[in-house]
Formats: sequence, structure tokens, C-alpha cells
Amino acid sequence: MKRPLKHLSRWLRLPLHRWQAKRRLAEYHARTRSLDEVIDWAMHFGGQGHMKVQTLQVPWEITQLAKAVQALEPKVILEIGTARGGTLLLWSYLASEEVIACDLNDMSRQAPIFSNFPPPQSRCRVSLLSGDSHRPEFKQRVAAALAGRKADFLFIDGDHTVGGVTADYLDYREFVRPGGIIAFHDIVEKQPLPTNQVAQFWQKLKQETPVEEFIHDAGQCGFGIGIVRVPD
Ligand SMILES: C[S@@+](CC[C@H](N)C(=O)[O-])C[C@H]1O[C@@H](n2cnc3c(N)ncnc32)[C@H](O)[C@@H]1O
Repeated sequence: MKRPLKHLSRWLRLPLHRWQAKRRLAEYHARTRSLDEVIDWAMHFGGQGHMKVQTLQVPWEITQLAKAVQALEPKVILEIGTARGGTLLLWSYLASEEVIACDLNDMSRQAPIFSNFPPPQSRCRVSLLSGDSHRPEFKQRVAAALAGRKADFLFIDGDHTVGGVTADYLDYREFVRPGGIIAFHDIVEKQPLPTNQVAQFWQKLKQETPVEEFIHDAGQCGFGIGIVRVPD
């Protein structure tokens, strides 16, 4: 009986939580932000219920990734696995044209906040695609959203099983331009959850392809970001 009550309470408080998130977004947009500030906002935006914005990252790791992406001067960014929108906030700061954010979850409740992530002076727009990245029809929706463009950067942070992350890499790498970057989250071997199997995929990929790793501490539990640069 506890869970349905929790859901009802979240649903009833949604307008309040959305109002709070809008105020927080206005605070974020009140002045021009540096990259370091945006990373800090992505991790500590806060909020309640469905409107909480957050990313769980090691600051040094996400900063290295953000700098590598910024150096691409990205127009289009594709993200698989958006969750509470923390990394989406960051990509919305970096992309000049569009961020296409994909998640299994229905993101319609967060849409009024997520769609307004880009800074006021930015011409970037945010497209939210809810569905299973592994389904062929979902891939077609991504292709339609790209409309013939290639992404400069693809962030794979969705299904963390070895089969899931492998499928996302094989299915979506064709959408990244030559010279672009594909990044994976949670590449270190010691993960807190057994379903976090990205390390198994990563160890295999490393044998076949040149990679770069952003791992703050070799002994850490969880996290770690790996990138592959698409050959020119
Ligand atoms: C670790 S969270 C993403 C975190 C987010 N990138 C951030 O750091 O702010 C993983 C998300 O992937 C989504 N996901 C898992 N499997 C998926 C699939 N097959 N297709 C699309 N999204 C998926 C989950 O619903 C979850 O919200």
C-alpha cells in the first residue's frame, strides 16, 4: 500500500514540483555560465519528485568528457539514457543546434523543464524521444529526428547490460560523424550493481579500437567514462 500512496502523492504535488523546477531553471539562466558551473548545476540542480534534475558523476570525469565534446564545437548531440536530465543539461549547453535525448521513461512530465535547458542566448533545441533504444522502430525515430544530419557526439548511458550497451553501440554509431565522439559511462570493472556490465563491453572494445579513458581513481567503485573517436 506504501508505493501507490507514494505515486499518488508525487502526482498530486507535480504542479508544485514543476513550479519549483521552473524557478530553479530561471536562476540557472539568470547569467552566462562557465562550463564548470554548468557541470555543477547538472549535479546539484535538485528538485523534488518527478521534477528532480540530477546526474551521478565523478566531477573530474564528466569535466574531461565535457571538454572533449566542447572541442568538437558540436551542433548535434544524441544521448541514450537521459533519466533525470543531468547530462542533458550539460549537452544542452554545449550543442548549438539540437540535443536528441532518448529514454525508456515517459519524459512528458519533465518536458517543460528539459526543453528549456538551453541557455537563453542559445539556438539549441531539445527533442525528447521516449521508448526502447533496442527496438528497430525507435532507431527509425532517431533517424527521423536527425533528418540526414550526423551527431557530433553520442552519449551511451542507457541499458547497462553487456548485451544492451553492445546493441546501442552497434545500432547508433552510424549516426555519428567522422571525427565525432562516442562515450560510455560506467566503464570501470568494480560496479555496485550486477546489471552494470559496461566494463565487459569496454574491455572487449579496447582490444579492437583505440580508446581514451577518463577514470578518476583506478580503485574506485563504479563510474568511469570511456570514449571512442570515429575515424575521419
Ligand atoms: C544511468 S541513467 C542515465 C543517466 C543520465 N545520462 C545522466 O547521467 O544524467 C540510465 C537511463 O537509461 C534508461 N534506459 C535503460 N534502458 C534503456 C533502453 N533500452 N532504451 C532507452 N533508455 C534506456 C533508463 O530508463 C535510465 O533512465
